Amino acid sequence: MKLKIIIPIIVLAIIGGFIALRSTTPKPKPNAMDMTTMPSTSMAPQAENAVSIQNYKFNPTPLKVKKGTTVTWTNMDIAKHTITVDSGQPAGGPDGPLFGKGETYSFTFMAAGTYHYHCDPHPYMHGVVEVTE
Ligand code: CO
Repeated sequence: MKLKIIIPIIVLAIIGGFIALRSTTPKPKPNAMDMTTMPSTSMAPQAENAVSIQNYKFNPTPLKVKKGTTVTWTNMDIAKHTITVDSGQPAGGPDGPLFGKGETYSFTFMAAGTYHYHCDPHPYMHGVVEVTE
């Protein structure tokens, strides 16, 4: 009777040990060749504090950042845009000038809150920055 219980326990212990061994096996480090062939800027993820403006759209939105973060918007459109905080938002939101293609606008969020913004010449362009403590 006891053997029927012990055998599955031994089997489970062996399987468990095997899994533990596999998970602790270090992955091979990439060598110099791999590093040079790795994609650089084209595949790089967008910075956590960056918003692009393309085709009259803010991306990403909402953007989530910590208090004190400087957010930089980059305009990819030929049209000029602004980053203008909506009315009724927490104090300390962005209210920038028009900026053109290839230009950037940066704003540092010093207070936590959810900031809805738009573009002055194109009020249908909407974006959100969520600032947390
Ligand atoms: Co615009």
